[in-house]
Amino acid sequence: MQLNNSIRSILVVSAFVSGSFAMAQERASMKIFTDKVKNTVSPNLHGIFFEEISHGGEGGLYAEMIQNRGFEESRIPPGAVVENGMLNANPNQKPHYNLNGRASNWRMPWPVKTAMPYWKMSASEGSKIEATLSTNDPLTNATPQSAIIKVEHLSTSGKDYFINEGFWGIDAKKGESYVLSFYTKTNDAYKGPLTVTLLSSAGKEIAAHTFKSVNNKGWKKYSCVLTPTETDGKSVFAFRLGSTGEISFDFVSLFPKKTFKNRPNGLRADLAQYLADLKPAFVRWPGGCFVEGVNVESAPNWKNSIGPLENRPGTFSVWGYWSSDGFGYHEYLQFCEDIKSDALYVFNAGVACEFRSGTFISDEQLQPVIDDVLDAIEYAVGPVTSKWGKVRAQNGHPKPFPLKYIEVGNEQHGPWYAKRYNRFHEAIKTKYPEIKIISSMGIGDINRRTLDSIKTTDVADEHAYKSAFWSFTNYDHFDNYKRGDYEVYVGEFATNAGVGNGNMQAALNDAAYILGMENNGDLVKMSSYAPLFENVNTRHWPVNLIKFKADSSFARISYYTIQLMNEQRSDENLSISLNQIESSVKKPKNKGGIGLATWDTQTEYRNIEVIENGKTVYQSDFANRSNEWTSVRGSWAVKDGAMAQTAQGAQRLMLLKDKSFETYTLKLEARKISGTNAFIIPFAVNGQGTMLRAHIGALVNNSTVFEIVSEGSVANVSPTKRLAKPIETGKWYKIRLEVGYEKVDCYLDDVLLLSYTEPKKLIGIAGRDKKNGDLIIKMVNGNDDVIETEIELDGNAEVNGAYKAYTIASNETGAENSFADPKKYVPVTTVSEPIKGKKMKHSFPKYSITVLRIPTKK
Ligand code: AHR
Repeated sequence: MQLNNSIRSILVVSAFVSGSFAMAQERASMKIFTDKVKNTVSPNLHGIFFEEISHGGEGGLYAEMIQNRGFEESRIPPGAVVENGMLNANPNQKPHYNLNGRASNWRMPWPVKTAMPYWKMSASEGSKIEATLSTNDPLTNATPQSAIIKVEHLSTSGKDYFINEGFWGIDAKKGESYVLSFYTKTNDAYKGPLTVTLLSSAGKEIAAHTFKSVNNKGWKKYSCVLTPTETDGKSVFAFRLGSTGEISFDFVSLFPKKTFKNRPNGLRADLAQYLADLKPAFVRWPGGCFVEGVNVESAPNWKNSIGPLENRPGTFSVWGYWSSDGFGYHEYLQFCEDIKSDALYVFNAGVACEFRSGTFISDEQLQPVIDDVLDAIEYAVGPVTSKWGKVRAQNGHPKPFPLKYIEVGNEQHGPWYAKRYNRFHEAIKTKYPEIKIISSMGIGDINRRTLDSIKTTDVADEHAYKSAFWSFTNYDHFDNYKRGDYEVYVGEFATNAGVGNGNMQAALNDAAYILGMENNGDLVKMSSYAPLFENVNTRHWPVNLIKFKADSSFARISYYTIQLMNEQRSDENLSISLNQIESSVKKPKNKGGIGLATWDTQTEYRNIEVIENGKTVYQSDFANRSNEWTSVRGSWAVKDGAMAQTAQGAQRLMLLKDKSFETYTLKLEARKISGTNAFIIPFAVNGQGTMLRAHIGALVNNSTVFEIVSEGSVANVSPTKRLAKPIETGKWYKIRLEVGYEKVDCYLDDVLLLSYTEPKKLIGIAGRDKKNGDLIIKMVNGNDDVIETEIELDGNAEVNGAYKAYTIASNETGAENSFADPKKYVPVTTVSEPIKGKKMKHSFPKYSITVLRIPTKK
């Protein structure tokens, strides 16, 4: 077995004592029925999903260092217009494919504020220089915009720079080589010289090359290598102008020489290596909503993403910026080959995103779209004698690429989509029977209506964005699926609510989710976490797997969880029983402070009382002691003895200072004054951004729900329950929370509205590595306690020697890796003392994800 370099150290520990994590200990028992094979685990379970979101590609995986290299960033995407600062993707009001012939009025703020974003002219005193965007005489028709610099007068300072800031800085490393190329043309007056340089954050030229004479009427390509004399992760690129006259620039490109596998036009080595280290079975590309586009006219088309870079028009990502498509179809297929993964290409099915304009190509006009996807497959796997196989060979790759899967659209669903899917399916299967064809199922679970309307699908794609405790509460999610003649691919999964921007709680929930998939190996064959990357300077999605900036990166705990689960994958699942033994000493799960809150609502609260063991331990007196409370957000003021929150907006919050309660009754009165919702009562408060709360009048004053707030991110932890009737404005209500050890009951005017009970947070599975007979136990302990577990092997197998434990653990659920400490939470390997027999014990640390690999004999 290969250990990856994230696994830090090998320690020898006793199988019976978990020394380093010894503290409050709970108990559990696990029985493994070693002769009862439940099902097999898919070798393709773990893949990856790449989308151009949060600059995951541009300024991320794709190693280009110049942002807006072709001056195309301010180009309005095809079929769209900008009106009053908003992008209207459907100005002609074409019908939305999902709105019964109506057009959607979707708009997004147009993010572009200048003609040449990320470029600026820095002229020294006395110089007269103007930089403008030009559409005259373009370098190529695909990229119609360029920059023109008119130098009327130059001072003698020699410091007149046309600067590109890179992707929030350029990572210059001392002694490394960076390949620069650009196109330029001049009028007769501009003679040169022209210097290209990297400027440090202090403004010093730390790499430079001078082209002595630059004077050409038509576009001409120049290139050189820049070698910094200093390291600076926040340097910028600049042209230093050396002559009066006019000079134009286009396609300014700077690449590190060292890219992943040293490919020119390649990938950032550190980021690509994270992906390679996951050993993904497949790579899904290029999205996500990116595939759908803001409208059909601007949706991606693979044919625009191959061939000379200067001829690629780029694609406007629905996430609000242009992809240059430098990491295009060919580069993607090459990457799959480089990391020995299969390719899963998702194409636009002639439909734009249903949450956006939703424009579509009619059924009658669909044939060219079908032809396009057949061509894409031919490009990847066709013989060099075929039309597109020949183009692939001309592009440097005569051998076929490992394309194994095709997905028809992203997140479309319903009978209309099914009809369209059937057409693609038939056309693709007729020509390429070996390709597996994936159907999308909308944004959530497998959608029965869609599935039943599809004639045949090889694989159905479920998307699963979940909140903090979801996977513990719904561990049996896939157990309950009706089996049929289809497989499940969870094309996008992540815990992304109630977990800040990603933390240990998210990893625990992700791990439980993965165990649920693995345990249902007969059904769930493939999965990929989403989104993969986040450039921390521009986040478009709350929680992402790998974070980076120009000069550094780190992978979240969830990344190491997926890697561990993939490396230690069983071939077959065994039946087990797992029981967490009720502890004699109960621990209050909802310990903490209390608060008052509102969301888009103005509310008054009064007579707050906390009763512990029959005794009042806190009683509010806002008129005289309002200073016991602290306002976190909102406008809180005492009015007629009540505390009134009068501001509009989300997450208005006030907390009772310096008090913590364990099990108690919280009583109060509340009156809605105006606004959208009604009352929010925080409890188990452990910091301004970490608490549970009862939300009465949630969802526009219709429901009650328990919510978790973790580092400011909110998610439901209970189902929502409809209120008998909305909360009346101007009426005082009595609210009571009975906060028990594990259960919390919420009453309104003495009527029980809703209860919440902490889910059980010990999840485990067991399986076998058929190559050597090792048993593999995977356990997620989401509890705040070490759980000592007695493990018994039922059946023929016996433990036969020292076992290995791979453990990721933390002391708190908010823990996460960071730029400063990128590998703080990674799997730690320990080896037990030799054991023989049918029984063993292992202590699973609090907040931990563990895999045990146990040698056996029969
Ligand atoms: O992963 C982010 C987005 O979530 C994807 O673009 C989309 O497919 C899903 O809704």
